[in-house]
Amino acid sequence: MKPQLHAWITALFCCLLAKSVASADSRYEACEPRNCGTGPNISYPFYLEGVGADYCGFQSFRISSEQNRPTFRTSRGPYVVSDIDYQNNSIRLVDSDIINATCLAPKHYFAFDWENSDKFNFSPNHANLQYFYGCNESLALGLESSSLLCASNSTHHSFVALVRQNTDLRTVEYCERQVAVPIDLEYNPKANQTINTVNSTRLLTEGFTLLWHGSDASYCDRCRRSGGRCGRQNQATVCFCADGPKPTACGNVTVTGNNGKGGT
Ligand SMILES: *[C@@H]1O[C@H](CO)[C@@H](O)[C@H](O)[C@H]1NC(C)=O
Ligand SMILES: *[C@@H]1O[C@H](CO)[C@@H](O)[C@H](O)[C@H]1NC(C)=O
Ligand SMILES: *[C@@H]1O[C@H](CO)[C@@H](O)[C@H](O)[C@H]1NC(C)=O
Ligand SMILES: *[C@@H]1O[C@H](CO)[C@@H](O)[C@H](O)[C@H]1NC(C)=O
Ligand SMILES: *[C@@H]1O[C@H](CO)[C@@H](O)[C@H](O)[C@H]1NC(C)=O
Ligand SMILES: *[C@@H]1O[C@H](CO)[C@@H](O)[C@H](O)[C@H]1NC(C)=O
Ligand SMILES: *[C@@H]1O[C@H](CO)[C@@H](O)[C@H](O)[C@H]1NC(C)=O
Ligand SMILES: *[C@@H]1O[C@H](CO)[C@@H](O)[C@H](O)[C@H]1NC(C)=O
Repeated sequence: MKPQLHAWITALFCCLLAKSVASADSRYEACEPRNCGTGPNISYPFYLEGVGADYCGFQSFRISSEQNRPTFRTSRGPYVVSDIDYQNNSIRLVDSDIINATCLAPKHYFAFDWENSDKFNFSPNHANLQYFYGCNESLALGLESSSLLCASNSTHHSFVALVRQNTDLRTVEYCERQVAVPIDLEYNPKANQTINTVNSTRLLTEGFTLLWHGSDASYCDRCRRSGGRCGRQNQATVCFCADGPKPTACGNVTVTGNNGKGGT
């Protein structure tokens, strides 16, 4: 028993030595958290397109750098990533179109692309600012609204209302377009809040939060704290360590454990 164990430990140390001599794992290097010059660090389950490798995250979580800003592209339009919280799995997005706009009149809906619809949810404080463009005077919305003077003229009026969720208010005969834009209210319940009790400029420019699902959050937290970087390998989440991928976390816990056992 004892010589066997000895040989085993020797083999293990031999292996470790070989690994420490070899250069660091390239996937570990590739999955280093990165940013775009501004904004949050991007790491698993996100990755920075063109800089990080696709095995550093999920395809549908890819982020690109555009004008030094981390940008999340959807089929409807681009969103600037203003924050990512890896503890509570949340990402905050701001419509790129409104970032320097003098007239806050969003042009496109936000919608989950089908590949993402099962991966993200809105936050509990989610509501919509619903924009009505180019409406005629006969429209009676039946909702508190606020005029959007910068997008109106003498014959075509535009305004915005606060609604709880996607509602296709039947205005097609009266308005040229409707656009619903997600925002996060500052508190729940939503019931007592209207467009006239909130600051729509602030809500719009602060963007909205999406929560992503992931049973691997605590796994990756542990990986990260052990000095590793989560990534993907064979359709599974793994921990890339300086000396190669590990099933749980980096470090030499196993060796220390066996050493102790061998000594007694
Ligand atoms: C990004 O990561 C670097 C290195 O780990 C860290 O120094 C920096 O504070 C992080 N930046 C943000 C915005 O979290
Ligand atoms: C996530 O955590 C950050 C700070 O840690 C907090 O500001 C934010 O409100 C949290 N988001 C959610 C949706 O819980
Ligand atoms: C917004 O304005 C800033 C400062 O004027 C400029 O650096 C930036 O490129 C502009 N961004 C966009 C998307 O136009
Ligand atoms: C008012 O705006 C609409 C578009 O919403 C445009 O079709 C129309 O020509 C404009 N009318 C005037 C008088 O500028
Ligand atoms: C507004 O649109 C409705 C439906 O098309 C139309 O019947 C009505 O005459 C329009 N009103 C004005 C003031 O243009
Ligand atoms: C709405 O209700 C919340 C929570 O009950 C309260 O904090 C807030 O002041 C109310 N707002 C208005 C405008 O009445
Ligand atoms: C609304 O928010 C904007 C941006 O945060 C701020 O500049 C403005 O003063 C606020 N307006 C009111 C009425 O509080
Ligand atoms: C491995 O364990 C040894 C002994 O406990 C320790 O000195 C060393 O720092 C550990 N190496 C790593 C990479 O954690």
